[in-house]
Amino acid sequence: MAMPHNKTEEDITAEVLQRFEQTPDPRLRQIMLGLIKHLHAFVKEVELTEAEWFQAIEILTEAGRMCTDKRQEFILFSDTLGVSMVVDLIAHRKPDGATESTVFGPFHRLGAPELPAGGNIARLDKAGPPTLVSGRVLNLDDEPIEGALLDVWQAQSSGLYDSQDESLNELHMRGKFRSDAEGRYLVRTVLPVNYPIPSDGPVGRMLRATGRHPWRPAHIHFVISADGYEPVTTHIFDRTDPYLGSDAVFAVKDSLICDFVRHESAAGEAVRLGIDPPYYTAEFDFRLKPAAEQRTNVLDAQRRLAALGARAAE
Ligand SMILES: [Fe+2]
Repeated sequence: MAMPHNKTEEDITAEVLQRFEQTPDPRLRQIMLGLIKHLHAFVKEVELTEAEWFQAIEILTEAGRMCTDKRQEFILFSDTLGVSMVVDLIAHRKPDGATESTVFGPFHRLGAPELPAGGNIARLDKAGPPTLVSGRVLNLDDEPIEGALLDVWQAQSSGLYDSQDESLNELHMRGKFRSDAEGRYLVRTVLPVNYPIPSDGPVGRMLRATGRHPWRPAHIHFVISADGYEPVTTHIFDRTDPYLGSDAVFAVKDSLICDFVRHESAAGEAVRLGIDPPYYTAEFDFRLKPAAEQRTNVLDAQRRLAALGARAAE
């Protein structure tokens, strides 16, 4: 059906929707029609001015230009707008006893070294108190999963990830660990700190202009994967952190909060590893659910992002 050329605001939305109606892939069709419907409704609702529209283009252009293999401004936008957590919550709707997931964030890097149990990911961090994180990787029947891979990353005591720290040109605060026959893992690190997300770009300007703070509560990142199980991307959080209730990226879930306990005298693994007190320990068991049918997961997504970053760095 031919559309009139003297368009009203309603005519143009209808014509754009009609143009996308013929999209062969049904999922892409659903996404494009939903996107156009809501995008047009948003522009009409706020009566976006030409100057504001141009500002939005400039912001997106600047965000794109900031992205490199070490900086992902679009993930920061997604995280600070709460979109990452909505996607996470849709993907993991049913509580089933498995460890809850949370945002992947912009700071994962490929190539972290595989370390033995008790290996120290914080070997260059002399400021933070030594900390041992231990626990088990289990299935939903609480049986151990042997050989699960735990990909761990964390900010330094300075609040910076290695990729943000210009004094470093190597990977730091990252490691991969394997669970043993009893499902046990042991990570040596330093006490995680709260930190502000990078605010020297458009995301930072948005936070300031809207009266929001950029802080994230202290946490350690994990991606845990094992053959036959669905990988989980998550964090563990420090129960004492003042930002648990106002995480800049909305990523806190109650089940992921744990106690980092201070010790004044060495015992157990701390003695074996030669750790002098005071030090901290945290215990957390991860529960994985059996793999669903093959689908795109975060590991595929991180490989694609890494490829994008490598291209940006060229
Ligand atoms: Fe983080």
